[in-house]
Amino acid sequence: MNILEIENIESRSEQETEEFAAALAETLQPGTVIALHGDLGAGKTVFSRGFARGLGITEPVSSPTYTIIQEYPIDKGGWFFHLDLYRIENSASALAFGVNEYLEEPTAFTLIEWPERIADILPSHTIHVHLHHRGDTLREITVAANGLDEFVQ
Ligand SMILES: Nc1ncnc2c1ncn2[C@@H]1O[C@H](COP(=O)(O)OP(=O)(O)OP(=O)(O)O)[C@@H](O)[C@H]1O
Ligand SMILES: [Mg+2]
Repeated sequence: MNILEIENIESRSEQETEEFAAALAETLQPGTVIALHGDLGAGKTVFSRGFARGLGITEPVSSPTYTIIQEYPIDKGGWFFHLDLYRIENSASALAFGVNEYLEEPTAFTLIEWPERIADILPSHTIHVHLHHRGDTLREITVAANGLDEFVQ
């Protein structure tokens, strides 16, 4: 598979992670799916909050662990869909609740936590963000994607 690694940075604070996520969101186009990988405490919620800010969303953002999906309208049109699949066993269960509508919505930015649950049905254009815990406040953030040209302005 042709994985193109576009960015690998170190974040030294919660604020830096938020700013990186916001800046990334500003470079992406609607129709993008972002798979956000990272262990407990890696910073997925922090990243998601920054990403939403980058899309101009001012509502509070926290991971939808119990509701699975949270939908936020974007002022200038379209949606930010935030999925947390921690409680979803596999892609069959995800398809049963209609995950495809979120993966295929052309006006949406769809960010997925615990994307490993549905690895077999993620679109090939998915952008993969990995958060690695490297120290107390140090995180390594890697962004990788396939066929990225279509989705980056
Ligand atoms: N560089 C950093 N980037 C992001 N978070 C950081 C950083 N340094 C320290 N932190 C802290 O790490 C914690 C990350 O928590 P967060 O809830 O975002 O993790 P998570 O990946 O969502 O975990 P969970 O799977 O348990 O929900 C926060 O308490 C945050 O303040
Ligand atoms: Mg979280």
